[in-house]
Formats: sequence, structure tokens, C-alpha cells
Amino acid sequence: MSIVRAKHRYRAHPSRLLVTALIGVVVASGAAASGWILFPKPTTASTHANPPDTASTSPLPTPPPEAVARPDCRVVPCVALTFDDGPDRVTTSRLLDLLEARRTPATFFVLGHRIAGNEDLLSRMVHLGMEVENHTWDHPKLTHLAPDAVVDQIRRTNEEIVRATGRHPEHLRPPGGNWSPGVTPTDGLTLTTWDVDPRDWFHRNRAAVVQNTLSAVQPGSIVLLHDIHPSTIDAVPEILDGLEARGLAPVTLRELSTSGTLPHE
Ligand code: NI
Repeated sequence: MSIVRAKHRYRAHPSRLLVTALIGVVVASGAAASGWILFPKPTTASTHANPPDTASTSPLPTPPPEAVARPDCRVVPCVALTFDDGPDRVTTSRLLDLLEARRTPATFFVLGHRIAGNEDLLSRMVHLGMEVENHTWDHPKLTHLAPDAVVDQIRRTNEEIVRATGRHPEHLRPPGGNWSPGVTPTDGLTLTTWDVDPRDWFHRNRAAVVQNTLSAVQPGSIVLLHDIHPSTIDAVPEILDGLEARGLAPVTLRELSTSGTLPHE
């Protein structure tokens, strides 16, 4: 299923940076020339099976259906806003307030080491209908790590997300988009980058983030933002206004990935 989606996205966006691949098995030496490769999920249990749900994982309340809007991406053009490097008590909280008020879904690529003490933020994300995904433990450049260390970065973060939310991540975003085809398997995650990068971490300027986002976004886009910068949070209302003016509906990454069609290319 993930492979089909990934191939679809390659066809849909041949010229963009978006690369989505399923991480399923260790790449054998020589098997990969360069770039990104799709692999089927292993049919047998891997050495890194999903951690079991533990008794400490308390069930979350069912999100109210009106918490965020759920547009049908088969009918309206959709985009996914993604927020990396959090959670942060101040800026992420403010962003969630804003998204909740606008009934806007988003996807959060969190760092594992920032979860302890911020479990309530992750619970709130899920309760509101947001997605929580894996951005590694502490943001290393994965291509500089040994394969075992890469696995550790990903697995520990998965475990923290499950502990805080009761839900397994489905996507992994490697820091900086850096991924070596010579490393890793993990837990059936889909490797997901982006196609719109307003460089909010560099500009730290509301107007620049708004302009850079809205000038590049298209139906099916995945937008890279960071919920640790106040200027990024400041930019979100205008970004949402701009998307709405173009008839682009924000959805979560999973909703975008599984919509099965991008009819407004
Ligand atoms: Ni990051």
C-alpha cells in the first residue's frame, strides 16, 4: 500500500524534492546505487518490530468529530502542513491554540528527547485530530551515524510517541532530509520529506515565511515548517488565509498520502 502511494506521488510530482519511500529492510551492500529506494514491508517479523502497547499507555479520549475539518481530498485540492523539531511548551501550545480555533489539521514531526514533560502537548495533538510522527531522538545527521545508532534514534522516538499518545507513528522525517540508502530498517515507517521549504528556521520572519510558503505551495504539497520559532507561529494565520483563498484544504500527512488522487495537478 505504501509503495503504491509512493509511486503515485513520484508520478504526481516528478520535478519536486518530495521523496517518499518505505523503510522495510536493511539495504544490502551494492543493492542501492544512489538515491531513494522502495522496499516492500517484510512479511516476517523483523528484529525491530513495533513495540507493544504497554499498560502504561492510557487510552485517549476519542477526538470529537468537529475538532478539525476533514475535507475530502478526492474532491478538493489538499496540502499538508508539517511542523518539525518540537514539541515546545510555548510555541507549540500557541500553535495548537491557533489550529484548534481554525479547525485545521496538521502533522507534527517531534523529537523524542523533547517528549518527556510535554506528553500533554502530544495528547492534545491527537485529541484534536493532528498526527504525531517521528523526527528522530535528538536531530542528528543520520548519514553520520552507524546503522545501529540510526535504529536507536528512530526506535526510542517511536516508543516515546507511543507512550505519550498510544499511537504508532507511520512517517519518519530524517533531519535535514538526509538519509543514506546504506542504513536501516525500522518499524515499517514511511520516509517522508517535503516539497515546499520556506526556510522559516533561517528567515525567522513572519512575512518571509508567508511569502515563501504561498509562492510555492501547490495541490498535494507537503510544507516544511518548525513549531519552535515564534515567527513561524505568527505566520500561520496568513498562510491559512492564503491557502483558503486558493481553495487549498489543509489535511494531515496520512490523509494526503491515502487520498489516492491529486485531481487538481
Ligand atoms: Ni528538523
